[in-house]
Amino acid sequence: MEEGKLELTWVGKDRRLLSHGDDRYEWVDPADWRVSEIRLLHDVDTVGDPDSGNLLIHGDAMHALDALIHIPHLAARYEGKVKLVYIDPPFNTGQAFTHYDDNLEHSVWLTLLRDRLTQIQRLLAPDGSVWVHLDDVEQHRARCVLDEVFGAENFVATVIWQKRYSRSNDASFSVAHDYLLVYRSTPAWSRSGRLSRGADAQYSNPDDDPNGPWRGVPWDAPEERKGLDYPIVTPMGDVKRPPKGRHWSGTEANWQAVVAEGRDYYGKAGSGMPNVKRYLSEMPGLVPHTIWGHEEVGHNDEATKETQALSPSGSAFATPKPERLLERVIHIGSDPGDIVLDCFAGSGTTAAVAHKMGRRWLTVEVSGETVSTFLRPRLEMVVNGKDPGGITTVETPTGEGLPDGVKAGEAKAAAKALAAFQKAGALEEVDGLDEAAVKAAVKALRAAEKTTSEVRWEGGVGFTHVEVGPSMFEDVDGIIVMAEWAVGGELTEAVAAQLEFELAPEGPLAGRKGRKRMAVVDGMVTGAVVEHLVGLIGDDETLLVVGRALAPGVEDRVRELRSGSRARKIPRDLATVGRLPSRLVRLKPRKAEVS
Ligand SMILES: C[S@@+](CC[C@H](N)C(=O)[O-])C[C@H]1O[C@@H](n2cnc3c(N)ncnc32)[C@H](O)[C@@H]1O
Repeated sequence: MEEGKLELTWVGKDRRLLSHGDDRYEWVDPADWRVSEIRLLHDVDTVGDPDSGNLLIHGDAMHALDALIHIPHLAARYEGKVKLVYIDPPFNTGQAFTHYDDNLEHSVWLTLLRDRLTQIQRLLAPDGSVWVHLDDVEQHRARCVLDEVFGAENFVATVIWQKRYSRSNDASFSVAHDYLLVYRSTPAWSRSGRLSRGADAQYSNPDDDPNGPWRGVPWDAPEERKGLDYPIVTPMGDVKRPPKGRHWSGTEANWQAVVAEGRDYYGKAGSGMPNVKRYLSEMPGLVPHTIWGHEEVGHNDEATKETQALSPSGSAFATPKPERLLERVIHIGSDPGDIVLDCFAGSGTTAAVAHKMGRRWLTVEVSGETVSTFLRPRLEMVVNGKDPGGITTVETPTGEGLPDGVKAGEAKAAAKALAAFQKAGALEEVDGLDEAAVKAAVKALRAAEKTTSEVRWEGGVGFTHVEVGPSMFEDVDGIIVMAEWAVGGELTEAVAAQLEFELAPEGPLAGRKGRKRMAVVDGMVTGAVVEHLVGLIGDDETLLVVGRALAPGVEDRVRELRSGSRARKIPRDLATVGRLPSRLVRLKPRKAEVS
């Protein structure tokens, strides 16, 4: 029997992609410094609380995620600690949207997705989950890639989101949905965030019970049982016994407890069969369905209006997602205080909603124009409490003042149905029901539905705006040299990040990684220099000295002085350091492929 695993292959799968920033990509070796270099993140400024840990990162997701994974002080904060990742990458629809192009070779698109997912895996907490938002163009191929990166056993669900409510009659099918592919990081993900029951039509409050809406559960149950047929006296004085062939659900003492709690109910007239009140507020939440309708979580038009209201120019982002959709994703996949990541930020819906829901967040966007037009202003408004839209304010039908038998939400639903019937011309045949009468009825039904409005977010916390720094290397006619800015302290910082040393300045020693100490020499490393440096480190420590030039014999000298120590020359020894997980670099054929 042949060995091997099922996998999707594509041209260039073993390579990586270098973005030239103008929608051109170049296939490169995974060890190529242009994709393997760890770039620094430079502070732009901070809005609100400087210690929030929330980061708006302007730059390519590839560099941003690498920085979060490899720069020690960032890795300590974020690696393996992100609870929820939601990404809404360009779907590869073949279109050029106003704010970005969306037309790549499948192999390019798949490589980009695979590489971002591999980075995301490093950031995810063991009990985290990743949600990938796509449409039909790539979702079937993306499933294979997700299986490969996270393991098919970690597939959780495919959610179908109804993004449109109107129909395109000029297409063969009017596509009304997108997909959210949900994978868990490891089987440790046991979370199944329950959904609120909201205004459930089965529950009402006809007697203005201060405990809120409730429903009556009969106290009688099938079969006769001895001792469970005691008399119960109603408020009107009627004596009730279980109907023939039935018994009371609990003992007489149990019923007395129900009465003591004020949960007994005997119908409107107070003379019916005994019931126990079950309050809506006590019911466990609902397990989410895999089909999410637009009424529950919003649609594309809603999202467009939300971004329009938040953009200082009044323009709308091309492909935003509604806040209610992200509210549900974040509710299911995280708890307050958890870290949520979206490395394809667009207008910033994920970060804005995560912020308003008390989560911490990281978000990345490559387009400077999108950052300045949509993302940054939106997040600033959220922090400053100037974003009244989206999930900030929640309207809940109260059911107050509705006629007997009509429950909360039903008047609004009736108004909607009536308006839809009229629009479809389905009421024309009904005598005496002209357009004006229907309009008046719709208006009256809408007015009858009283709602309470709860403001859930009034501003606060903050975020730091950073940007991915430039490369420390430059290619001058095929020769790699250090960039002009990479001198002194900045050179040290860039080298430390590249080699994953924590910055820990102590005299000429600049960083540490466990028992290894590092020094960066912005010039020639001589024998005298290494003798001095080795004299500064502890007896059980080793030295890594990095310099622009190494004097002859210095590499041997440092090893002689302290076994395990090394000298490296920049850029020569740094620009070739590959950092990809080795399974991405599969240059030799696997056993199963050798005939
Ligand atoms: C579909 S939009 C995301 C919309 C977002 N969910 C919202 O609600 O506004 C995709 C975004 O990813 C950004 N993007 C594309 N490639 C990227 C990359 N390599 N790094 C970071 N962002 C990228 C695009 O500029 C675009 O803004």
